[in-house]
Amino acid sequence: VSDLSRLILDRIRDVPDYPAPGVLFKDITPLLADPKAFAAVTDELAGLYQVDKIVGIEARGFILAAPAAYKAGAGFVPVRKKGKLPSETLEASYDLEYGSATIEVHRDAFVPGERVLIVDDVLATGGTACAAVELVRRAGADVVAIAVLMELAFLKGRERLDDVTLHSLVIV
Ligand code: PRP
Ligand code: MG
Repeated sequence: VSDLSRLILDRIRDVPDYPAPGVLFKDITPLLADPKAFAAVTDELAGLYQVDKIVGIEARGFILAAPAAYKAGAGFVPVRKKGKLPSETLEASYDLEYGSATIEVHRDAFVPGERVLIVDDVLATGGTACAAVELVRRAGADVVAIAVLMELAFLKGRERLDDVTLHSLVIV
């Protein structure tokens, strides 16, 4: 296990039965609150690929993507839950355990062909990441990779991302 993996794994708190009975929630707030760990994660994400824009997925993806974009000298683009972006949008829906969710990006968020890294905190079933990749591509950009702080391997989200590079800082 690398130093970075250790730094991350030691600062993720497992919260049982949140948000529902039987779910073990991965709480990243101890990691965010530690300046050394937060900086190490930000620097790692910023240095992975040479990109024009870094996309953050609302809400927890914003926390990691925005400082990484700043550090990388890239622009930041928000992918938001439906109804939050003010201008013309593209939207994509994905299934949740019960029902579905819709995310959006501004239609003009990218210059055609721009190289983009998508960032989120956790890859679980992969539904969110898959929808974000679809959106960014439809908006005309080139998805270089998706990077997540933590991949929950037992949920097999990676299998849904068969045509994009997935980089996970830790796999649990
Ligand atoms: C969580 C997490 C990821 C997503 C992963 O977001 O932050 O974005 O679920 O799940 P999936 O791989 O099964 O799609 P969530 O929408 O719960 O809320 P948030 O607004 O707190 O990020
Ligand atoms: Mg999220």
